[in-house]
Amino acid sequence: MKKDTRKIKEDYVADEPLLCSLDSSKTYKGLVGIYVDESLITFIDGENGKLYYRGYPLIELVNNSTFEEVAYLLIYGNLPTVSELEKFSNELIKERNIPDSILTILKSYPRNTTRIELLRTSVSALSLYDADDYDYSEEANIRKGIRIIAKIPTILAFAHRIQGNLPLVEPSKELSHAGNYYYMMTGKKPSKDFERAFDKVLICHADHSINSSTFSCRVTVSTLSDIYSGITSAIGTLRGPLHGGANERVVNILLEEIKRKENVMPWVKNKLENKEMIMGFGHRVYKTWDPRALILRELSREFWEKEKKGEIDKIPDQAHEDHREDIDSLFEMTEILADYMIKTKNIYPNVDLYSAGLLHVLGIPTPLFTPLFAASRSAGWVTHALEQLKNNKLIRPRLRYIGEINKKYVNIEER
Ligand code: COA
Repeated sequence: MKKDTRKIKEDYVADEPLLCSLDSSKTYKGLVGIYVDESLITFIDGENGKLYYRGYPLIELVNNSTFEEVAYLLIYGNLPTVSELEKFSNELIKERNIPDSILTILKSYPRNTTRIELLRTSVSALSLYDADDYDYSEEANIRKGIRIIAKIPTILAFAHRIQGNLPLVEPSKELSHAGNYYYMMTGKKPSKDFERAFDKVLICHADHSINSSTFSCRVTVSTLSDIYSGITSAIGTLRGPLHGGANERVVNILLEEIKRKENVMPWVKNKLENKEMIMGFGHRVYKTWDPRALILRELSREFWEKEKKGEIDKIPDQAHEDHREDIDSLFEMTEILADYMIKTKNIYPNVDLYSAGLLHVLGIPTPLFTPLFAASRSAGWVTHALEQLKNNKLIRPRLRYIGEINKKYVNIEER
């Protein structure tokens, strides 16, 4: 058995403080508006629709950076020099392969399992093959984090191709993180245009402060559990349709329920009359345009224009190609939807509305949308795990018990 290197500070289980300035008579359901810690990673300015990674506006990073550079920025807190970035990118490339045992279990999963479940289980299994598994030092956690970021695309692409009875595509040693991911999924090297767009999608999803999955990750590592467990918890949380699962729902609704521009208005009115939530809209923090949605909206517009002109050389998704003639441009449909929701409800599109249409036009199969989010967000989860552990405090809120007490136990025969 390897040595456990965790250092447990005596005060990490310190007495629970009184609810200080919080109103102890109030229940903060959903932790709405509650700050659970301080962070130096990401700032969401929800009022003004701005997002900053390590202080840099997202738009600057999207316009000038790459996913590798952003992952470095998140993990180390500063932009890399040329040589630092080269070293980091090479480490990611070196770690792209997965152990044979993981490939064996990927092949043994039931074929109808969702890709995000496959990912959750595989990331959990990866820890068993990591030589640093029981080393809890920050250096080892960074090494493990880099492995997780590098291997997630391989796990996803392999799982996708196994499920589709397609030959596996080994990770490239030359392509960028975005390019290689696209290549392994589709079996085709992306054009420069595609790689650029795909890279921007990855950057936009790389971190988003303490959203539900990141919170899960931080809760898990706050018990001084390991980083693999943190990321596994996060993936399980991301899966839900109120979080990462929304983009798959959006594309399915557009393709299978709405289909035509003229159907958008009756569809949305009906949903709202029935008090149903419209996927791809609303956000806990943004009360205006989500800046990521604006970025992906422009990319979506650009690629749907190309699609119209027949300039897109993409991998067709057969299920959708079969109905191509019956379906209008997803971008145009999302525009009608957004306009109506903003004007009538003052509810803005979120990142999922536009990532859905964009990924679809880029030829990414729908079941890979949520896992793609996970691949990108892994950079953020790793960074948050590191930050949590730097100055750890067990995350353990309270739940207000509202049931009866002192009930009399009745023997089973007498109930
Ligand atoms: N469609 C219709 N109405 C919506 C809505 C949506 N997508 N999002 C919010 N609203 C309405 C709510 O019904 C609520 O109305 P009410 O005050 O009349 O009850 C109000 O706006 C506030 O919404 P609430 O659900 O309290 O906000 P929240 O912070 O708890 O929820 C989400 C945020 C993201 C969970 C929610 O907007 C949602 O479910 N969106 C759809 C799923 C989605 O796209 N998720 C991806 C998020 S990035």
